[in-house]
Amino acid sequence: MNSARRTICLTLVLVGLICSCTPKGWSEWEKTVIAQSDSVMYVCVMPQDSAILRATSTNLGPEELKSAELKTLLDKMYRTLTDPSQDGVGIAAPQIGINRRMVLVMRYDKPGQPIEPYLNIQIDSLLGEKEPGPEGCLSVPPYRGIVRRYPRIQISYVKPDGTPVTENVEGYSAVIFQHECDHLDGILYIDRADTVTVNEAWAAEREAFSYERPAWWK
Ligand code: NI
Repeated sequence: MNSARRTICLTLVLVGLICSCTPKGWSEWEKTVIAQSDSVMYVCVMPQDSAILRATSTNLGPEELKSAELKTLLDKMYRTLTDPSQDGVGIAAPQIGINRRMVLVMRYDKPGQPIEPYLNIQIDSLLGEKEPGPEGCLSVPPYRGIVRRYPRIQISYVKPDGTPVTENVEGYSAVIFQHECDHLDGILYIDRADTVTVNEAWAAEREAFSYERPAWWK
């Protein structure tokens, strides 16, 4: 292949890559997950869903941010997180099969400890000295681990109404944000944990739990 043809081929590959990196609207797969999921969604688990859990997530575009699908998705993620079968303190979109930068976090630092959605979230700064604490993950049953996390962080995100926000968070809520934001980069707490052990209570509770994917899952 001469150099001119090589340049043309390389350009075409680059254009293809750029186009594939800037999706417009929800993908067919994302639309399927949003529409087909029960109100309590299937939660991806290791190792069977490692392709999704280990992928890097992308931001929601203007089209997705103002879509009806987003409201449905946030509602289903909320119901999933608060369902007695899961009973978590946070959930990230990759855990329900959608590689987008969105998480739900229980705000232990706010009155009534509300569970709130955070879209296109990023951690701007990690502050203080790391402190060890226990963690688990709905996607890594039935383990627990000790992970060192920063006590204070600054985050930026978009609210469901489109308002951009920057805020400082500390304490256990800051730990949850660090855990959930790791999911968006394909990182699991077991990657960072000093120790990981089986949580006997969780293991017993989960004995009859089915990790089978829904029939419509790819
Ligand atoms: Ni998790």
